[in-house]
Amino acid sequence: MTDAKPDRSAWLKGGNSKCQAKPVATGKPWRLVLLGAPGVGKGTQAELLKARLGACHLSTGDIFRAAKQLNQNERTPALTAALEYMRRGELVPDSTVIDIVRERRGCLRCECGFLLDGFPRTVTQAETLETLLKEEGLRLDAVLNYELPIDLIVKRLSGRRTCANCKAVFHVETRPPKKEGVCDHCGGKLYQREDDRPESIRVRMEAYRKSTAPLADFYDRRGLLLTIPADGTPEEIFNRTMEALRARS
Ligand code: AP5
Repeated sequence: MTDAKPDRSAWLKGGNSKCQAKPVATGKPWRLVLLGAPGVGKGTQAELLKARLGACHLSTGDIFRAAKQLNQNERTPALTAALEYMRRGELVPDSTVIDIVRERRGCLRCECGFLLDGFPRTVTQAETLETLLKEEGLRLDAVLNYELPIDLIVKRLSGRRTCANCKAVFHVETRPPKKEGVCDHCGGKLYQREDDRPESIRVRMEAYRKSTAPLADFYDRRGLLLTIPADGTPEEIFNRTMEALRARS
């Protein structure tokens, strides 16, 4: 474990929010992208990687979910529209996502490094990230591509429960909370995500197949892709990830 203190307020809130992240005392800052189908376990791995590498977990899905807590009059029209796309399981338009990430480009410069989860999701977004990083004089260390058969993914999604307060993720069978419906970490209420309903899951899988799966080739051509089998426990997958990263560095 590092003594880094990642802080996501600048990422989640954007605008003038200040980041309190403290750089890692030893070791290099890692700059990673997590790829994989919805529900494969990217968020779960990001939390484990954050604890080990000290890099901030930057999820675009979390930005949209945080925006849901805002009053209607605090949301821009683009953000209101984005939440509707998300509810249906469709991808939010590239222009909206790119504007949101551009506004938060300071998080890419962070000395703690970053774990990008859910961005990029299309080739256009990947090209934009490439440009942004080039402008900042930064490079990705690797792109982690998690793979799992679809029936196992659907099981993971349908049993997922998320803390309304601290966003910790549980699973009713494989990672149950100690007390049903209550977060182990903060006592917050656990809820099922709106887009984890079967009809939205189907739409999300199709969007992944059409728009996001081609990114594996995109990053393979750049020599950045590390494909990680995502079966087994979160800890086993985490160990595979660390081995793959060590083999690269
Ligand atoms: P986003 O929030 O990015 O969701 P996602 O990609 O669909 O991924 P998930 O968060 O559903 O799954 P995950 O892989 O993180 O799995 P988790 O670790 O939770 O995006 C949501 C929406 O926002 C999109 O549909 C889109 O509308 C919009 N959006 C966001 N970014 C966008 C972008 N860049 N462009 C356009 N639109 C965008 O695990 C799932 C469950 O499995 C949990 O219950 C967990 O406990 C369990 N689990 C995890 N690992 C294991 C394991 N090894 N064994 C057993 N259970 C496990």
